[in-house]
Amino acid sequence: MRPFKEIKAHYYFTKEDEKRLLALKQVMEKRADRVIDAIFQWINATESAKKVFRSESLMKHVKNVIKVWFINLFSGKYDNFYYDNLIRIGQKHEKIGVEPHFLIRAINIVRNTTAGLVCEEPDLEEEKDNYLISINKILDINLDIILSAYVEEEVRGYSPVYKVKGKIVRFGEVFSQITSVFLISGLILLTGAVIFLCGRDIYEIFTGKLEHTIITALGSVLILWVMLELINTEIAHLRGGKFKISVFVGVALVTTIREVMIATLKHDSLEFIGALVISVLVIGIIYWLVKKTEEDRR
Ligand code: HEM
Repeated sequence: MRPFKEIKAHYYFTKEDEKRLLALKQVMEKRADRVIDAIFQWINATESAKKVFRSESLMKHVKNVIKVWFINLFSGKYDNFYYDNLIRIGQKHEKIGVEPHFLIRAINIVRNTTAGLVCEEPDLEEEKDNYLISINKILDINLDIILSAYVEEEVRGYSPVYKVKGKIVRFGEVFSQITSVFLISGLILLTGAVIFLCGRDIYEIFTGKLEHTIITALGSVLILWVMLELINTEIAHLRGGKFKISVFVGVALVTTIREVMIATLKHDSLEFIGALVISVLVIGIIYWLVKKTEEDRR
């Protein structure tokens, strides 16, 4: 399977699309039954599709799960949990033998009915085209992932090599997620230590030399700020967002700036302070270049 980030990028699925889909949530929640009714009207009229349902209760259950899936199209949150759920849908349909053709037709009905709903809403008239583009993107992404997972599951059934490969990849994914959780825990612990450092520096403002401790405390607050940025970046990455190297360079920059402040207060040798200032300059340029590249890519 392609990574979710890559799939979204290939469909030019942006933050603007996420916002537009979220803006449609209320309307779609209210009208969800119309979309589900349209799908099941077609299923009931199509003998081969209807045969898939062994009982009325199974049909009722599937209506409910499709409704949840439909409302989630407009959640505005498309992270790794969302991606995993789509993979599960693809795998489940392969296991129970629902042909991909039925899934494609069902999503085609969702596309047509949802477009009709957008056109009916006078409030959406002005940005109608953009809303329709965003809906098409998310439906295509859904279909892409569900079908890819379906095909992979099918191939896995035939090829033992593929089965082993799948297991190794899944193990790698789980391992990477667990490592990320450890990393976040480590960052939280370190942030705790930095809070202690800040508290100690602030305490010394009232007990020690005022101008010395204010500057040291300022340095600690700077580090605390970057630590919070680091935690947020790691959480965003865990949810499938982009990895921001600039935050890590920012940590190096802020730490060196703090060193310069402390060295100046301690009246360290000019060579040492000079070397620190050059380091700040070099890291600053690297920070600016990395940040600029990240913003250009957005
Ligand atoms: C928009 C397209 C569809 C979506 C998003 C969808 C979604 C789902 C989901 C989320 C489940 C539960 C998966 C799980 O338990 O892990 C499911 C199960 C199922 N779906 Fe679909 N489905 C779609 C189309 C169809 C179609 C067209 C059919 C039949 C023609 C179908 C037949 C079934 C059946 C029989 C189950 C198994 C229920 C069970 O045994 O628990 N689905 N579907």
